[in-house]
Amino acid sequence: MVKHLLSMQDLSPEEIHSLLERASYFKKQRLNRILSDELKGKTIALIFQKPSTRTRVSFETGIHELGGNPLFLNAQELQLSRGETIADTARTLSRYVHGIVARVTSHNYLIELSKHGTIPVINALSPLEHPCQTLADLLTIREHKVKLKGLKLAWVSDGNNVCNSLLLGCTLVGINISAACPKGYEPPPEVVKQAQKNAAKSGAKIEILNDPKKAVTNANVVYSDVWVSMGQKKEAQKRLRAFKEYQINAKLLKLAKGDAIVMHCLPAHRGQEITAEVIDGPRSVVWDQAENRLHVQKAILYTAI
Ligand code: CP
Ligand code: NVA
Repeated sequence: MVKHLLSMQDLSPEEIHSLLERASYFKKQRLNRILSDELKGKTIALIFQKPSTRTRVSFETGIHELGGNPLFLNAQELQLSRGETIADTARTLSRYVHGIVARVTSHNYLIELSKHGTIPVINALSPLEHPCQTLADLLTIREHKVKLKGLKLAWVSDGNNVCNSLLLGCTLVGINISAACPKGYEPPPEVVKQAQKNAAKSGAKIEILNDPKKAVTNANVVYSDVWVSMGQKKEAQKRLRAFKEYQINAKLLKLAKGDAIVMHCLPAHRGQEITAEVIDGPRSVVWDQAENRLHVQKAILYTAI
């Protein structure tokens, strides 16, 4: 069976743990300058409909380090931009390449790619989810806190793609998650419902709040993301007003555990969702997070392709 990664929910807790193990192994190997050839003779297409720094560069580098050939495809330069269907694009690419990594403007495009192609499809960010980010985050948390189960993660921002994948990922592995979002910006009910089901199995707690202080109190991990995601430019002014009280700053951080770490998927807007003092301060692990995208995505490709 072809193994896709469209949602964190495509993975079992055991699969998440084994991906993290594999990612740590690749990380150590890289430190020792040991190269591998798991993707030798294989080409992976990267279709991007939105801008990217981390995801694009870490996937291209990771594929190269596994001995494969990354093929970056700007969606604007594909026949897709002239009306060729996603289904026909998937059928065509399946005859040439061995996997598709896609950053899309609609989550349905990923579903279409996976349905009509015959090769694995990996979600490199959709409006609904960002599973590669969550896996890198879990690896980062494990590195800094040793275990995952029983920790508390506080999300303070929009109930967006990064939040959704974290809700699913944390509840699958037993991390308690409290998400504080302004009224009207909470995560979609179907994601919350699935996360609650996961939590019932793993023993995690999940809360969706409108109070950043309550979310951050006693948290081991405090997580921030932009208030205005890609594709939401038109709503920017309204969002900046709605999210004013949802900034991670030194005062809010005081409510977290004394050794809490601060995370942000990046890119960041200092002075908006997080202060420079916090993101550039001693609690911040954002560069570890960014680095871990590389190792985790190598593990995903190793497992899926
Ligand atoms: N965090 C993340 O996905 O970054 P990019 O948008 O730069 O890929
Ligand atoms: N929520 C952000 C994440 C960027 C990596 C966005 O979708 O733009």
